Amino acid sequence: MTTILPVASGKGGVGKTVCTANLGVALARAGKTVILVDLDLGGSNLHTCLGQRNNRAGIGNLILKQEQGLESLLTDTAERRLYFIPGDSLLPGSANLSWFRKQKILSELPLLVADYVLLDLGAGTSYNTLDFFLISNNGLVVIAPETTSILNAYSFIKSALFRLLYRSFDNRSPERQIITEFGSGRLEGSDAKLSSLIQRLGQHNPQSGELAQQRMAEFMPRVILNMGRNNADIQIGARLRQIVQRNLEIDINYVGFVPHEARVARSIIDRTPAFASDPASPFSQAMATVADRLQNAPMPPPAELFADNSDLDSLRRDASQQPQADR
Ligand SMILES: Nc1ncnc2c1ncn2[C@@H]1O[C@H](COP(=O)(O)OP(=O)(O)OP(=O)(O)O)[C@@H](O)[C@H]1O
Ligand SMILES: [Mg+2]
Repeated sequence: MTTILPVASGKGGVGKTVCTANLGVALARAGKTVILVDLDLGGSNLHTCLGQRNNRAGIGNLILKQEQGLESLLTDTAERRLYFIPGDSLLPGSANLSWFRKQKILSELPLLVADYVLLDLGAGTSYNTLDFFLISNNGLVVIAPETTSILNAYSFIKSALFRLLYRSFDNRSPERQIITEFGSGRLEGSDAKLSSLIQRLGQHNPQSGELAQQRMAEFMPRVILNMGRNNADIQIGARLRQIVQRNLEIDINYVGFVPHEARVARSIIDRTPAFASDPASPFSQAMATVADRLQNAPMPPPAELFADNSDLDSLRRDASQQPQADR
């Protein structure tokens, strides 16, 4: 079975792409077949970390309907067992992903034949990023040891959890309305605590309350603390867990403390992932530990989610405005 691991962050520049590339090498060297997919549309640069020339068709070509499907975009890398699907760097500007294309990519990802499929996502909380992140209950969130990164990671996890709950209920259901109102703080008496939302949903329909609770219990993002410089940085990670536990009432799972290492920046210029050029360095050892933990961690497939109402609204708009719409 293919395990899909999205790699996200609240703040940009914390090392998602570096982690995706090096984790890919670490897993491949542990004997796994790995496909890295550049889904940072509009900011694709995973090819640079892998030392690939920017001359292959990627997701951008798929969006512009120049290619059939994800599998046709697979390319080799310098590393055995490691494959790559480029983003849209060859066709910048194709970042505008329609509902149909997103659904197509989401449905094709689990069909790729590999042990692991790692998704390098863009920073932030756009619906596209959140929907790619929710392809797993155990997506990776990369943080750097700085306050803005922690707070943005908290916002990202919160947005992902709300979207998970929202998409757990049918289009135009009263539950979606309750969740939207709670999320925008419009429900009287609603505070930041998620338990009051569960209570509201339960008052509306006990089964809905139970479903929401179950989805929350299943959702456990995995966090990598990257660019760590000393032990005090671990405390910063503990702060994120505290805020998440207190306000969202879910847990997160730390899978690695990856040190800051000057060679990592150099490795991009050298066009070879740092793990490949020095597997014994502290950075590479930390990546190997993350790879190990991920292989030993259970990854139950997430439940099917309903499509998003606003997606469908934009779909109707597209259809009425452009008869040639992407279908
Ligand atoms: N462990 C590390 N040690 C030293 N430098 C690092 C480390 N991880 C990442 N970097 C550096 O940080 C910069 C940003 O890394 P990267 O591009 O992976 O971030 P990102 O989260 O993917 O950014 P974006 O949000 O723009 O996609 C790069 O220049 C990289 O060399
Ligand atoms: Mg990146």
